[in-house]
Amino acid sequence: MSARGGVPEPAFELLVRAVRDYAIFMLDPAGNVLTWNTGAEKIKGYRAEDIIGRHFSTFYPPGDIAAGKPARELETAIADGSMEDEGWRLRQDGTRFWANVVITALFDDTGRLLGFSKVTRDMTERRAAENALRASEEQFRLLVQGVLDYAIFMLDPGGHIMTWNAGAKRIKGYQASEIIGQHFSVFYPPEDIEAQKPARELEKAIADGRLEDEGWRLRQDGTRFWANVVITALFDDTGRLRGFGKVTRDMTERRAAEQTLSERQRLVSHLVQAQELERRRIAWDVHDDSIQAMVAVGMRLQLLAERLPDEQAQAVRQLDESVRGAVGRLRELIFRLRPPAIDEGGLAEALNGYLNDVVTGWGLTCSLRYEIDREPPPESAVTMFRICQEALANVRKHAEANFVEIVVTTVYPGVLVQVIDDGIGVGRAGRDQPDHFGVIEMRERAETAGGWWAMRQGPAGGTIVEFWLPMAQP
Ligand SMILES: Nc1ncnc2c1ncn2[C@@H]1O[C@H](COP(=O)(O)OP(=O)(O)OP(=O)(O)O)[C@@H](O)[C@H]1O
Ligand SMILES: [Mg+2]
Repeated sequence: MSARGGVPEPAFELLVRAVRDYAIFMLDPAGNVLTWNTGAEKIKGYRAEDIIGRHFSTFYPPGDIAAGKPARELETAIADGSMEDEGWRLRQDGTRFWANVVITALFDDTGRLLGFSKVTRDMTERRAAENALRASEEQFRLLVQGVLDYAIFMLDPGGHIMTWNAGAKRIKGYQASEIIGQHFSVFYPPEDIEAQKPARELEKAIADGRLEDEGWRLRQDGTRFWANVVITALFDDTGRLRGFGKVTRDMTERRAAEQTLSERQRLVSHLVQAQELERRRIAWDVHDDSIQAMVAVGMRLQLLAERLPDEQAQAVRQLDESVRGAVGRLRELIFRLRPPAIDEGGLAEALNGYLNDVVTGWGLTCSLRYEIDREPPPESAVTMFRICQEALANVRKHAEANFVEIVVTTVYPGVLVQVIDDGIGVGRAGRDQPDHFGVIEMRERAETAGGWWAMRQGPAGGTIVEFWLPMAQP
């Protein structure tokens, strides 16, 4: 059978007739089937003699016919030269298959429509495979989405957040809409950003395939949590970096539990307490006894000086000066031992007293911003005071600063203290020097109290020492 009546069947037509994977056939200008091939028989079920001469709308489900789809497809093919469609089609036995269809309009040299060629492919299996893949991807996505104990999300190659799950929301506080598109360094505390830790972590994940880290991270409200983080670099088949998978776990509670169990921590806290008690006892003795006695001596010397003739009065006044100097040094000693104000007027008064009586004496301008509503319990107050004392001593020794400010604010559920100077700043070398104990002691005190401590370069130069201690709930 030939569509070109009389013309010997060229090899091309033989080829078309033999193709099995595609239904390839022709329609006349009205849409009636003119030719049929092996693929058409295999896909649609009809034998050539059953279908030639019938209208091609036979292949469409009733809904498509009611909607006028077959005619529309021919019109589109005439208008555009060809049209492509995917959709359900019917076999002879009435079953459906998912078809990819290309209809091409055929014109002769004068532009007269000769008919249409129609190539149909059975995509049912591929569609089923794609659907199965999509379904399993969807299930996996839902699984990841619903995980509450882990923050699981993806970063693009530049480190911007692309996905977000329920665990990420629970642990970090952000809604997906607030965080997607932002850079993941927003989760890192300022001292890590200053040390370029986020970028280094990505570099390491690329080099080694993955990276694991434990450290402080920030929640949306600015509070910190102790995180275990695994970053995995994701490469495609060609070895190109597509991004990173990031899994974060909140270990704050476990860390706290580990810390309360640590023998060393218990010992440290015990020692610190014993030391504080001893210092307080000595401070009270010096304050109540030695200083009172010397102040009394000073007053007598003044009275005496008023009564004596000028040349002797001069010598007595000098004596009085040195007594006053000694009282000043003893007060400083008491401050170092135990600021009396901590037990009497609370932390704000103790810090203010120390700044005014001691730190200004070093030639530093000081200020205190104290913005907490509830007085911390005495034990926390002493810890905060001690850390401030060492931080201030470091400002005096190392910073070459003119100005130092202490800021005390509530960062729920605790108190954040910052000691900010305008000096030369801490270089990277300034951290954790093994034979310097100030930094170690400050960190130890904060962590023993269940908090954290950090030292970093301030944004405008200078150094910021900051620490946070938890406060018991009311
Ligand atoms: N405010 C600051 N400005 C500049 N550098 C600082 C400041 N605070 C600390 N440093 C640097 O950090 C280092 C470590 O401080 P740390 O308190 O541990 O030791 P130290 O003061 O040298 O000795 P120690 O406290 O044991 O007497 C200091 O040697 C200094 O280089
Ligand atoms: Mg020091």
